[in-house]
Amino acid sequence: MSLTSRRLQIIIMPPLTRPLIAPSLLAADFARLKDEVIAVERAGADWLHLDVMDGHFVPNITFGPLLVKALRPHTKMPLDVHLMIAPADPYITAFAEAGADHISVHPEAGPHLHRTLQHIRALGKKSGVVLNPATPIESLVNVLDLTDLIMVMTVNPGFGGQAFLTSQIPKIAALRRLIDESGRNIVLQVDGGITAQTAPSVLQAGATCLIAGTAVFGAADYEAAITSIRAAVPAGLPELNTSTGG
Ligand code: DX5
Ligand code: ZN
Repeated sequence: MSLTSRRLQIIIMPPLTRPLIAPSLLAADFARLKDEVIAVERAGADWLHLDVMDGHFVPNITFGPLLVKALRPHTKMPLDVHLMIAPADPYITAFAEAGADHISVHPEAGPHLHRTLQHIRALGKKSGVVLNPATPIESLVNVLDLTDLIMVMTVNPGFGGQAFLTSQIPKIAALRRLIDESGRNIVLQVDGGITAQTAPSVLQAGATCLIAGTAVFGAADYEAAITSIRAAVPAGLPELNTSTGG
């Protein structure tokens, strides 16, 4: 290789991609949600994670599309909507119209995951599949072509502030291999108990997007909290691909 082409190669090498940080609004001050969203965006968050719970699929109730619509004009961050509702299908259009950019569903929340993901994509949104701690990888292997995001739950869904389940790390690593072998641009998210202390293990296993509620909104300084989670990349980690595209 000539010196010129070597220089060119160095110049066109993309910079190391950092992990995406998606603060979960569940841990925000609900009396000041607009201000919280603005604050976390200023603090460097990449996506805003919105946990929708119905008191049926999970033992807690949060909010619906009205809140997504109300917050939409106040941020440029992609709205990453995590549906913990069953059935999910009747509400997907409402969340899309409210301004959700990503809509993720649990395979257990409906009888036809393939059709649900087709529906999300047809609405022009990124589609996601969420795996509970007890849900095997097999539940999504046949729908990878319709999947933009895979979310591994490292707590049982329903509440913020729970302890991180280290038992899920092999699942994250197995999904990393599955995604790489598929050659698809699928973001691998991890949700639950993420802190600057737990982040290195999930990044090492191959996650590219970290969802963090308590560790961000529970901190006095959101920017310092986001920076410390993002900086938890283990030494020698290969470049992260955080683009989506199925
Ligand atoms: C749990 C939610 C998570 C949760 C994360 O059902 O899906 O997004 O809010 O909160 P922390 O980071 O506090 O575990
Ligand atoms: Zn969530």
